[in-house]
Amino acid sequence: MRRNDLLDSGLLIGVVGAGAMGSGISQVAAAAGRKVLIYDQREGAVEAARDGILARMDKRVREGRLPAAEREAMASRLCPVATLEELAPCGLVVEAIVEELDAKRGLFAGLEGIVSADTVLASNTSSIPIGAIAAGLNRPDRVAGLHFFNPVPLMKLVEVIPAPDTAAEVIEGLMALSRVMEREPVRARDTPGFLVNFGGRPFVTEGLTIAQEGVASPAQIDAVMRDCWGFRMGPFELMDLTGMDVNLPVTEFIHHATFSDPRMRSTYLHRYKVATGQLGRKTGRGHYDYHDGAERPSPDAETRRSAAPAVAIAEPSDALLALLKEMGIEVLETDDGAVPLLAAPIGEDCSTLCSRIGADHRRLIGVDVTGDTTQRVTLMVPPGGDPAIRESVVARFNVARNVTLVGDSPGFIGQRICAMVANLGCEMAQLELANPGAIDAAMRLGLNYPRGPLELADAIGVERLHEIMRRIQEQTGDDRYRPSQWLRRRAQLGLSARAPAFPDLEDDA
Ligand code: NAI
Repeated sequence: MRRNDLLDSGLLIGVVGAGAMGSGISQVAAAAGRKVLIYDQREGAVEAARDGILARMDKRVREGRLPAAEREAMASRLCPVATLEELAPCGLVVEAIVEELDAKRGLFAGLEGIVSADTVLASNTSSIPIGAIAAGLNRPDRVAGLHFFNPVPLMKLVEVIPAPDTAAEVIEGLMALSRVMEREPVRARDTPGFLVNFGGRPFVTEGLTIAQEGVASPAQIDAVMRDCWGFRMGPFELMDLTGMDVNLPVTEFIHHATFSDPRMRSTYLHRYKVATGQLGRKTGRGHYDYHDGAERPSPDAETRRSAAPAVAIAEPSDALLALLKEMGIEVLETDDGAVPLLAAPIGEDCSTLCSRIGADHRRLIGVDVTGDTTQRVTLMVPPGGDPAIRESVVARFNVARNVTLVGDSPGFIGQRICAMVANLGCEMAQLELANPGAIDAAMRLGLNYPRGPLELADAIGVERLHEIMRRIQEQTGDDRYRPSQWLRRRAQLGLSARAPAFPDLEDDA
């Protein structure tokens, strides 16, 4: 199969499986001017998929967003077929059937006896190794992963995955064809969860860990990730949207597939939600209640006490002083032994900071100065803190900001979650799952992250990120927080997180 064959406008594309993914793939292929032959073993499934696509097109015509002639052209390009044999003339067949290895192997073996020797066979699997599907076929060199995201017409990302025997021109051809279908392809290694499902784990599992530790509530965690770090949704809102019954198996699969790497570990809270049927929006209750009239718990700390008139600084921090100045908070030159003591811990909880510098823990309040502090500020208190001091500081910050008040936690909420996301992005680069540019693009496009994980690492600062991870690992004794070696090396050398291992090699994202 030569690269140009997949780019030939006369290429016939077969799609097997006309469910959610198969119909989306058929739609984007037909929209790119390709004729698509769709097969499903379930009676009526293909017709239902075609009707669904055309109903969406009709809506766009009514809204004036699609010429009627284009809708007709799309209809003529979407061709239901009743047997697998009818896929014989296809130059590419994309499989989107049930997620079972034996079913996929059986289908591909059957297709080998039907299609021509050069036809490319692609799988849309999210979790089965492409190499396992290709193993045992007569021509494994033409098998690859072509992993679209749901809903396909809206999600631009496609992961293109070679198996051990896949020919280079097959991968290049699929990358080029994906661009014709107005997708953004990234090349990924044939590893568990590929890029997006692997890299997306820590955002939710660290959120769950923070909640399970009693540091903060789901509403507080979501608010911080939205307001301070620019995520469109917080981890709990995201889990409720996806459904816990979808999210948990992916998490367990990846944890198992990585030989229980603690970085990929989740919490019993995750399983408990599924066990108790709190699956998210689909069951009316997940981390939040979606029944009519249900109120969302507030993420904001409120207090009726009067605001602290002045504070002292327990440990100097330029960012903290700048924030206090901007908010007009008076800072005493020297601690008078009575005012609140503020500090801006990085990767440390308040207890560790107090014991390190000998500060009075009853008066100490941690302020997270990382991320965007223009709307919301996260404050943190050690155990044994004076409630009057705490309330007066909350009241003072409340004058100009929403305040999230959390229990003692190394890295508050935002530092912890972002550091976990960014550190795993570094590890993905170290494991050569893809090159740095592709890792960032995949996570932005596949998960709507405001930045890719390596871009996030650079935004936090590589040395600072390394310090955060190292400190959290030290305080918790948990290797979940061990810094990636990719990160350590770049921190030691003062390099960008995106600095490639071999700068002379071309970035072929
Ligand atoms: P689905 O259940 O909506 O559709 C699967 C379709 O395949 C059904 O219509 C079924 O009748 C048909 N089918 C099953 N076995 C068949 C066979 N042997 N021959 C012909 N047709 C067969 O499933 P969905 O969600 O579309 O997923 C399909 C594939 O895409 C799976 O491998 C899944 O892991 C993967 N995927 C799913 C995503 C999602 O969010 N739903 C995202 C990315 C990948």
